[in-house]
Amino acid sequence: MATTAKSESVKSTGSKKSAVKSTTKATAKATAKAPAKAAPKGGLYDFSKNMEIFSRAVKVVPQGIYGHQSPALTVPGEFPYYAASGKGPRYTDVDGNEFIDYMCAYGPMIVGYANDEVNAAAIEAMQQGDCFNHPSELMVKLAERMVESIPHADWAVFGKNGSDMTTWATMVAREHTDRRKIVMVKGTYHGIHAWCTPGHGGLINADRENMLYFEWNRLDQLEELFRRQGDDIAGVIMTPYHHPAMAGSILPAEGFWKGVQKLCNDNGAVLILDDVRCGWRLSFHGSQDYFGFEPDLSCYCKAIGNGFPISAAVGREELKTSAAKVFLTGSYWNGAMCMNAALKCLEILEREKAVEHMFAMGERLNKGLEELGDKYGYPMKMTGPATMGYLVLDDDPDLYKIQRFCAEVTKRGSFFHPHHNWFLSAAHTAADIDETLGQCEDALKAMG
Ligand SMILES: Cc1ncc(COP(=O)(O)O)c(C=O)c1O
Repeated sequence: MATTAKSESVKSTGSKKSAVKSTTKATAKATAKAPAKAAPKGGLYDFSKNMEIFSRAVKVVPQGIYGHQSPALTVPGEFPYYAASGKGPRYTDVDGNEFIDYMCAYGPMIVGYANDEVNAAAIEAMQQGDCFNHPSELMVKLAERMVESIPHADWAVFGKNGSDMTTWATMVAREHTDRRKIVMVKGTYHGIHAWCTPGHGGLINADRENMLYFEWNRLDQLEELFRRQGDDIAGVIMTPYHHPAMAGSILPAEGFWKGVQKLCNDNGAVLILDDVRCGWRLSFHGSQDYFGFEPDLSCYCKAIGNGFPISAAVGREELKTSAAKVFLTGSYWNGAMCMNAALKCLEILEREKAVEHMFAMGERLNKGLEELGDKYGYPMKMTGPATMGYLVLDDDPDLYKIQRFCAEVTKRGSFFHPHHNWFLSAAHTAADIDETLGQCEDALKAMG
């Protein structure tokens, strides 16, 4: 495993520059429209305005809020539904409740909400005009940046969301190999397209006719797939570690990634790393750097632009001709604003040694949580890497305890999702983590 996991290079969380610092002043300014309430001492947040807006939403929006942000995936009525503003690691909902955020917009926020430097870069590009007949030079600069910082990247392309990149990558694998089958791990999320959506609506059998599945860490199952159908397997697409919803995360077993890489190489299949969720939270150089292997193609999204809508795929030189043959475009995909936001975001991440900082903050949170769990009779464990842990409580078969704990903490001022991995950002400070742990202690006392 790469040394980026170590946290010793973080000297002091107080040394962060203004771009990644959450100040009370900045938070207050950002929340001027919906005055933020301080985290309540003993009292609990009220979500009545959230509920009122949601009751309007269900009349005009299918499900009110759909997809991963659906309230049905947390605990209905016990969590905020609508955001109003944010600054640094905190945001405020429409009731004026302020949260220290451990979801980071489900990953995109990585250097703090409304980061001044990223916003300034986006605004600068926007003021020159964003969407033209042509890309701007910023696209080339961003591609150069990706190629220079990610070892297996010889070229880069850009889009607007992760699903487009993962789907496009599977098409490049098919184009390159002239084969049909794509292998993925059961229970992995790669986006909303028909070959991989976890939803059920609108699908036909043909959508998955050429998909093959194996279980995470079961190299023997992958071997068997290659043994039986290797000459028709175009590619294997996987996330860096297994992070399903509603269950703890599972890291790769010793030798697993090297084994996957060897099977792909020996059988002429393209190894696609879906780094959409983990990109820049395990290593600045791509998550393969953290786990020690070499994919052929990688897909990125979420953190690359600190929330500005941009995604990317990178690949090896051998795949460049095939990549050129798979049509890729979108009405505003080459817009300059997001390219400049991403360039600035990457600059901050590197300059601030953000990955090391996030690991240090995650380890502080995990240690504190596990100690509190033991102290109050709710043993708990954070699974997955510390920068994006998933909390599991002991003896919780129906997930009631985790729901209760996350709701109690959220109502006290820190947003904890009960069924999804969390995310740390470069903007979280040790003081934020300690404030959260205080709220966790109050929550555990309330749970009795
Ligand atoms: C691992 C992974 N792949 C792909 C996607 C799809 O990305 P998007 O929602 O931007 O289409 C996601 C989104 O959560 C993801 O976590």
